[in-house]
Amino acid sequence: MWPFKTSVKFVEMDFRTDIHSHILPGVDDGFRSLDKSVEALSRLREMGLEHQFLTPHIYPELYPENTPEHIRSVFGACSDRLESSGVQCRAAGEHMVCEDMAEKFDPARALDLGQKHLLIEMSYAFESRNLKEFIFDLNSNGIRPVLAHPERYNYYSRSLVELKTISDLDTFLQLNILSLGGFYGNTAREKAELILEHGLYTFVGTDLHSLAQIEQLKSLKLKKKHVAAVETLLRNNDLLWSGEWGGVKSDSKASKSSRLLL
Ligand SMILES: [Fe+2]
Repeated sequence: MWPFKTSVKFVEMDFRTDIHSHILPGVDDGFRSLDKSVEALSRLREMGLEHQFLTPHIYPELYPENTPEHIRSVFGACSDRLESSGVQCRAAGEHMVCEDMAEKFDPARALDLGQKHLLIEMSYAFESRNLKEFIFDLNSNGIRPVLAHPERYNYYSRSLVELKTISDLDTFLQLNILSLGGFYGNTAREKAELILEHGLYTFVGTDLHSLAQIEQLKSLKLKKKHVAAVETLLRNNDLLWSGEWGGVKSDSKASKSSRLLL
């Protein structure tokens, strides 16, 4: 497709669906005003975006107001303005795996990404002690966790041994696309490249918090060797939005090796 290039601009790719953003205004550390949110979506539309999941942090300690009902209500109040950008939006959430998750999380009220896929996150400094237990609970309820930006968790090694274990627990991994541009530092970039090259990601998101990050997206260049893998993630995003996602991980090196072990 790009025979003579050593890198490809992200804006040249088929970026139609974003599964992770903090564009819903006034609910977390992302966008503060509806006008800026509409501006962000309009600029993303110019880059080709058609579908945007709005995934505010659901973290009772930091954002006690962010119940599923509150997020749905804020979305209901501003969805017409947001979609005047030309981008279709859906309300979901990014769920912090916190200590008392088992008591606080209600699968029946969950703000998922559709098809019973739930975006989850952890602290960048330490792994949630109950991560595996929570994943087990989700799976027991027929819910598939999607772990946001694993490349940013400092406690996971470059050997990827911990992330392979998590991936094998019926959990999908979501790349923050800006990690590949080094916008969260070199360590996150190097780990993102490793995870991508090992075929452990399934979805991709912007995790957009500000208009400045749209300029970063515009400047982002991917190494040519990573383009096909990111295209697969973008297609998976589209399928999740349309409800046609089959829940099967890409035909990666990791999944091949998992099958060999069975
Ligand atoms: Fe996020």
